[in-house]
Amino acid sequence: MSAADPVCIIGAGSSGVAAAKALLQRQVPIEGFEIGSDIGGMWRYQNDNGLSAAYRSLHIDTSRRNLGYPDHPLPDSCPDFPSHAEVLQWLDSYAQRFDVKRHFRFRCRVERIAPEADGGWRVTLDDGESRRYRAVIAANGHLWDPRWASFDGAFDGTQIHSRSYRTADPFADKNVLVVGIGNSAVDIAVDVCRSANRTFLSTRRSAWVMPKYVMGIPVDRWSAFFGRTLRLPTPVARTLVRWLAYPVVGDQQRFGIPRPAHPIWREHATLSQELLPYCGHGWIRVKPNVRMLRGGRVEFDDGSVERIDVIIHATGYRTTFPFLDPALFAVTEEVPALYRRMMPPHLPGLFFVGLLQPVGPTIPLAEVQSRWLAALLSGAMRLPEPATMRREIERHANAVRRRYVGSARYALEVDGRTYAQQLRRDMHREQGGA
Ligand SMILES: Cc1cc2nc3c(=O)[nH]c(=O)nc-3n(C[C@H](O)[C@H](O)[C@H](O)COP(=O)(O)OP(=O)(O)OC[C@H]3O[C@@H](n4cnc5c(N)ncnc54)[C@H](O)[C@@H]3O)c2cc1C
Ligand SMILES: NC(=O)c1ccc[n+]([C@@H]2O[C@H](COP(=O)([O-])OP(=O)(O)OC[C@H]3O[C@@H](n4cnc5c(N)ncnc54)[C@H](OP(=O)(O)O)[C@@H]3O)[C@@H](O)[C@H]2O)c1
Repeated sequence: MSAADPVCIIGAGSSGVAAAKALLQRQVPIEGFEIGSDIGGMWRYQNDNGLSAAYRSLHIDTSRRNLGYPDHPLPDSCPDFPSHAEVLQWLDSYAQRFDVKRHFRFRCRVERIAPEADGGWRVTLDDGESRRYRAVIAANGHLWDPRWASFDGAFDGTQIHSRSYRTADPFADKNVLVVGIGNSAVDIAVDVCRSANRTFLSTRRSAWVMPKYVMGIPVDRWSAFFGRTLRLPTPVARTLVRWLAYPVVGDQQRFGIPRPAHPIWREHATLSQELLPYCGHGWIRVKPNVRMLRGGRVEFDDGSVERIDVIIHATGYRTTFPFLDPALFAVTEEVPALYRRMMPPHLPGLFFVGLLQPVGPTIPLAEVQSRWLAALLSGAMRLPEPATMRREIERHANAVRRRYVGSARYALEVDGRTYAQQLRRDMHREQGGA
């Protein structure tokens, strides 16, 4: 197949839209497919794709200035931490401005993709139509397939995963247990606790809970100051931010939240302005891991037992690709073998965008990835030899294993700042400064 043949993009969330815009700007022809009836992916509350995890109270946890694109920042009219609706409005204005939507077919699911013997990829759609593309960019999102915790015993009440959580209304006057201490868990516990009868949050290894503001300035702007302006390594920058936040949060143990055994820079960030004071009000009670489900009660690792009506598993997501044969490529609990976190070297022409979990915002990183891919697919940049790619993959996997605590949620973790620098350096080197 030739460079004039189109590239297929799966998904019109923030990653697919950024990829489409970057490729179009380099005159690479594209055809995109999206299950839902419009762009936005998870940022479209109650998206008719049935996959969005957005809840009504969702606001971004990285501040506005760090979220936007270099050529399309979020408007100054947005607050420091915009809501899902404001993020969607901004994405929509981006898609309109760069005329991206007409390149997508909406209400159309990609059922299958498979490499062809003579190069290129065969893409089969849900209406049975099949097309050939020179490359496929999978921008299908990785936060939609629930990972449930499995506990011994049996539970008589209701169990849901955070992906299905929308509002606190169904949980009024109930005894609610939220499992996990990631950002979904703390947001949902804070949301339900004011109308629930009692709210518990259970965690197996705890987390360093950071406030959204320190001295009236969004906490990620302090991280950016230490990391980007003073050029301190991320572990040092995150440790300094924790010290800076100490006068605000104090010792989180006072609120019943255990001090984690690991340093802050070994974990994904958990942010909440409200969690600690709400624990202080007694509205949220923190518990260790669940030991046993006992009908209408739950026993915890410290031996305490509570009457529980609803368990909300805010336990993260499995990374799956229903359209791809797992024998070709799959993400397990290990760091996936992707060169520059985008391409499996053994499957030429297949790329992933947004398959990342950074400390910091994902959205602008997927935009840098998109420009990198556009440079590659337009012929402005070349790939290194397979052996070089394999070495890079191994280096990255070792770095992740060394840095982060050993949990499945870190398979896609990247250090956002150094990763973006790496991609920019690749583009700069190949194009003399694009
Ligand atoms: C609750 C929550 C809060 C978050 N908050 C932040 C934040 O504050 N800042 C931040 O940077 N990131 C945040 N994230 C991460 C967020 O997921 C990313 O920022 C980003 O928006 C994901 O975009 P995406 O396009 O990769 O995936 P998605 O938004 O999931 O979009 C994927 C799209 O692909 C489509 N699709 C999937 N499969 C197919 C198929 N087979 N055929 C056709 N179309 C398909 C889907 O319908 C969907 O529209 C948050 C995530 C969650 C769950
Ligand atoms: N406001 C926001 O902007 C916002 C809101 C929600 C989510 N997000 C983002 O969306 C992504 C997903 O977040 P998430 O919170 O849904 O998932 P997550 O970050 O993967 O967190 C999952 C949590 O569940 C725990 N857990 C997993 N399996 C468990 C088990 N079997 N038993 C007990 N605990 C278990 C994890 O603990 P371990 O650490 O021990 O594995 C972790 O605390 C993240 O990037 C997050 O930052 C952002």
